[in-house]
Amino acid sequence: MRILDPNIVAKLAELHVELKHGAALAELTSLGIGGTTDLLRIKRHETLPDLLNLLDANHVPHKFLGGGSNLLVGDGELPWVVLQLVRPEPDVMLDGNLAHVDTAADLGRMITFCAKNDLGGMEGLIGVPGTVGGALRMNAGAYGMQIGSYVREVKLYRAASRKIEVLRDHQISFEYRHTSFAPDDMMLAVILELPSKPYKEILKGIRICNEKRRSSQPLGQKSAGCIFKNPPGVSAGRMIDELGLKGLSVGDARVSDRHANFFVNAGHASAKDMLTLIADVRERVQKSFGVSLENEVVVWNA
Ligand code: EPU
Repeated sequence: MRILDPNIVAKLAELHVELKHGAALAELTSLGIGGTTDLLRIKRHETLPDLLNLLDANHVPHKFLGGGSNLLVGDGELPWVVLQLVRPEPDVMLDGNLAHVDTAADLGRMITFCAKNDLGGMEGLIGVPGTVGGALRMNAGAYGMQIGSYVREVKLYRAASRKIEVLRDHQISFEYRHTSFAPDDMMLAVILELPSKPYKEILKGIRICNEKRRSSQPLGQKSAGCIFKNPPGVSAGRMIDELGLKGLSVGDARVSDRHANFFVNAGHASAKDMLTLIADVRERVQKSFGVSLENEVVVWNA
């Protein structure tokens, strides 16, 4: 979708929003899949209510993009624009055990920065690509931990009130890869309370998690992490593996040889290829195990 109306373009500039015409979403997602649309880069959080009023008044649909690492975007010219926060400098500020983090911060860099300041707890998420905002929205987790456990406060744009609000931890529910935030809320900043730990000890944990991830996941390939959520008590990856589906392909969309719940873009896969592969695998698992797999990856398809 293109924003060509000069009145809207001028108002965007007034709101300090950078407009990039025809951005390729394939270049902004870890899967390397996705069509084109206009990208609106937001430099100031406080302009969000006015920006969204402007878009709504002009019937411009939008979606919020974080780091694009858990996302499958449709092909071709997309029927909505994409909003993305510009990362401020600095993006993490420490105050005792509290880390004040802008959601545009890179998750891995934030974990490393906190570790160097003797704040731990997040070791399990090292190696998970994406922004802090994306991790927060999905309640990202690995190796027995989840980001939600450390959240004390979240600043967000709430679609329901059309305002920027601050929520305390008890006002948010964090479940397995799910939070109580609405799909069109936009995470802006978070305060994490992290346990004190010597850097050397945190580093040991980080090395162990890095090693486990390297040995079991296709890190060098284009993917969106796990495609399906694990149903209670079972592993989606193990079921897909047991059906012998590693290597199954539709075009360049392929079930990873290393971890069966990672589907990789082995070349120039389209969203259509990937969605067909997902549907095929889901159907086979349903048939053989009677289990209905739910997407873990977020799909923006028209
Ligand atoms: N397994 C297989 N074959 C495979 C993959 C896994 O037999 O191809 C077996 C493993 O041997 C193991 C079991 O299945 O016994 C579980 O596998 P793994 O430890 O790799 O964990 P997972 O349940 O597949 C979850 C998260 C990952 C996270 C890891 C580590 C989900 C959907 N996945 O994977 O998160 O990194 O645990 O904690 O919850 C993600 O969210 O994108 C993601 C990759």
